[in-house]
Amino acid sequence: MELLKKRILKDGIVINNSILKVDNFLNHQIDTKLFNEIGKEFKRLFEGQTIDKILTIESSGIAVASFASIHFNYVPVVFAKKTNSSIIDENVYTSKVHSFTKNTDYIIRVSKKYIKDGENVLIIDDFLANGCAALGLIEIIEQSGANVAGIGVVIEKIFQGGREKIEKRGYKVNALASIENFDDNKIIFK
Ligand code: G4P
Ligand code: NA
Ligand code: NA
Repeated sequence: MELLKKRILKDGIVINNSILKVDNFLNHQIDTKLFNEIGKEFKRLFEGQTIDKILTIESSGIAVASFASIHFNYVPVVFAKKTNSSIIDENVYTSKVHSFTKNTDYIIRVSKKYIKDGENVLIIDDFLANGCAALGLIEIIEQSGANVAGIGVVIEKIFQGGREKIEKRGYKVNALASIENFDDNKIIFK
């Protein structure tokens, strides 16, 4: 998505050849006009697929998923909650996610009320890095008996291997901007 790549080059800041800070339009301040275009692009990429629901994870995924929903005929957006507690609640699906950036595990949960057997669920998130969050969401959808319609991310960092892991599970990944690598803190798009 050219508009997005231009914006990343204009406002993105690379830290230590590993983290892309995009607080200016995605992770702190939100450019709603750009988000609307992002939603439109997800619709184009998943055209022809039946999508009953969008699943994301708090917090940065929520705004992206919500704008996408508008372009998928206002399907409901469900977000997985992160919690430190591992208390078993019979009414929720849970999955353990490893965070590389924080070097800890955390539990994500979604109420069984909001994902049902047979539904077609599209996963949307802001970043795809190691793919742990996305795999956690996939596990929750699989537990529910719903179908993973695909995974759409705004920015992927290919060198962290998230896409590979998801494709190995048999699911389709669409990224709006794919970063091959950082070189001297310069962004190298695929
Ligand atoms: P993973 O899900 O791909 O395994 O992610 P990882 O544990 O490596 O990263 C943890 C958090 O950092 C995630 O947000 C992820 O979206 C975000 N992230 C990863 N790489 C980058 C990057 O280069 N730039 C930015 N801006 N974010 C990145 P999170 O913990 O779920 O936080 P939030 O959604 O509540 O903000
Ligand atoms: Na996120
Ligand atoms: Na984030």
